[in-house]
Amino acid sequence: MGTSTATALAHPNIAFIKYWGNRDNAMRLPENGSISMNLEELVTRTQVTLDPNLPADIFDLNNHRQTGLALQRVTTHLNVLRGIRGIGTKAYVRSENNFPEGAGIASSASAFAALTVAAIRALGIEMPEKDLSRLARRGSGSACRSIPTGFVEWYRGTSDIDSYAVSIAPPDFWSITDLVVILDEKKKATGSSEGHELAKTSPFQTARIQDADKRIERCRDAIQTRDFDLLAETTEIDCNMMHAVMMTSTPPLFYWNPLTLELIKMVRHWRKTGIPVAYTIDAGPNVHLICESTVENDLVEKLNHFTWVKQVQVCHPGGNAILE
Ligand code: PMV
Repeated sequence: MGTSTATALAHPNIAFIKYWGNRDNAMRLPENGSISMNLEELVTRTQVTLDPNLPADIFDLNNHRQTGLALQRVTTHLNVLRGIRGIGTKAYVRSENNFPEGAGIASSASAFAALTVAAIRALGIEMPEKDLSRLARRGSGSACRSIPTGFVEWYRGTSDIDSYAVSIAPPDFWSITDLVVILDEKKKATGSSEGHELAKTSPFQTARIQDADKRIERCRDAIQTRDFDLLAETTEIDCNMMHAVMMTSTPPLFYWNPLTLELIKMVRHWRKTGIPVAYTIDAGPNVHLICESTVENDLVEKLNHFTWVKQVQVCHPGGNAILE
């Protein structure tokens, strides 16, 4: 095989029903299904060049050469993809995010979605979306949700074969906005891979999982009928449940800071006064305000009044991972 190059673009996603805990860590098979929305304004662009002359993989992220765990994770994923063709050709991977690392948005979803799509093309393989999603899942669970377009559901599945994500509505189906409110720009102390492994140590995880299908159904219904109140209620409860598991793991994970709770209370107050807005929080202190797009400007103005709000990133429903 000679040199071969491909480039792909993918968006990160925000989950309304969260993924937290694997039943198989190596294969990243989740304990429960999840639902998310891709974020159009945020993009990872990844170029993969397979080069028979390279002695080892090279990984540049935002023009910085990566070593250690970051490089290892890329190599491990490339090995899975190269294994499909039964070849060992090393790769030069160049990846860029248009959002800063401290932006409160995990980049691993868009990173592994873009890496999968680019590498599979560079390897000369054609495959359906669901198989790209299955493969992206093995790099980072939530990456499987950045493969299909718009609003997306990741099936828990019974094995590697049927645990993948599908689109449940295109981006233009519903005008809602994710206002990513940055309260703290520091990198999180405990990454999600480590966190997933702790989930099972919480006695609350069983209850969270048992009830997950009901929340998935309600969330899917909320999206398909554009029922904002139902989306708000389901998203917030699901987020609280995941954080309850985090806080009751051994050792416990506290991702919130006092301002996170301040904003949660504010959002609930705003919704009571009739503003269609809800909150959700991932593995960090920053808060995602999910709102109907008609109120996004008013909310940004309100948020900008708080001196403790560092930055607000406005995101709309985004498309699928694509080749450039
Ligand atoms: O894909 P990971 O391993 O980065 O896990 C994502 C975990 C959360 O962001 C906290 C929840 C989710 O479903 O996105």
